[in-house]
Amino acid sequence: MGANPGEDAKRAPASRCGGRIDRAPATTATARTHRDYLEGIGNTAATADSWREKRWNRYYLQTCQYVVAQMLRGSGVAAGTVLDVGTSHGNWLPFLRRKRFKRVLGVELHPVRAAVAQRAGYNAVYNCDAAAMPLADGSVDVAMANDVLVHVLQLADKVAVLREVERVLRPGGVFIFNHAMSPAFGLSGYQVIDHCSFVDLDGLLRLVLTGCGLRVVDIKPTYYAFTARRPTRVAEVIRNLVLSMPFGPYLRFLRDGVHARRLGLQQSDSVYLLALKAGDEVR
Ligand SMILES: C[S@@+](CC[C@H](N)C(=O)[O-])C[C@H]1O[C@@H](n2cnc3c(N)ncnc32)[C@H](O)[C@@H]1O
Repeated sequence: MGANPGEDAKRAPASRCGGRIDRAPATTATARTHRDYLEGIGNTAATADSWREKRWNRYYLQTCQYVVAQMLRGSGVAAGTVLDVGTSHGNWLPFLRRKRFKRVLGVELHPVRAAVAQRAGYNAVYNCDAAAMPLADGSVDVAMANDVLVHVLQLADKVAVLREVERVLRPGGVFIFNHAMSPAFGLSGYQVIDHCSFVDLDGLLRLVLTGCGLRVVDIKPTYYAFTARRPTRVAEVIRNLVLSMPFGPYLRFLRDGVHARRLGLQQSDSVYLLALKAGDEVR
């Protein structure tokens, strides 16, 4: 992503999401929303400035795209119109083009990032909140959101985004999105640290099942960097050494595969859900 919320939470002050994260106590009682942090939540793999961070982000993006590619393959949804929710400046555009979607639309709340994404080559980028999009009902085949709901701090706002995505999806369409998991960061349930929010898997599933009509049909872990412990200095040095090797990101990626078999979904730093908008005949 670039925007690795857990890394932010564990390793103040290097925020991948842009803003500095001080290790403030996690809270569920914040009145703040994603709009309060808009300037600070747009960083992605492409905006990292240090070489080390670029390497880490390459591994991170590769991991997320591997999972999304798997989910797309499994969904059986033919390439048509895809909506990239929270485009930032357009990090996911090359991937979505490679997947041969005919139309690639984006929605991004920040006006400058929306304009950059538009120039990058999306068919259209809407500069608005994903909770209220100027798109017709049932006009999208696939929607995806990488590292977006983590920054939508309020549960009611997360639900509003889910409902709006459901509205614009056609029956049989799918929404593929991820969320940071609280247990992997030593948190529990729904918690907010500055501009990032964390949930556990049960809470996330409850949110989808009770908040909207989408049906969760697949869950996959993304990566295992923390597993509820702050990495030791030695572990960090080893990680950086591995990442600096030519195939470093790939080795990390293999390591994740091993962890995915050994550890539970709850222990991954984030999970991807594939949620289906059932057709009329199924509902
Ligand atoms: C961390 S970036 C992720 C960008 C991109 N998806 C990626 O993975 O590279 C999150 C982006 O989502 C946008 N965003 C957050 N909440 C949003 C909302 N409710 N509606 C539209 N955009 C939103 C932010 O402005 C930010 O640019």
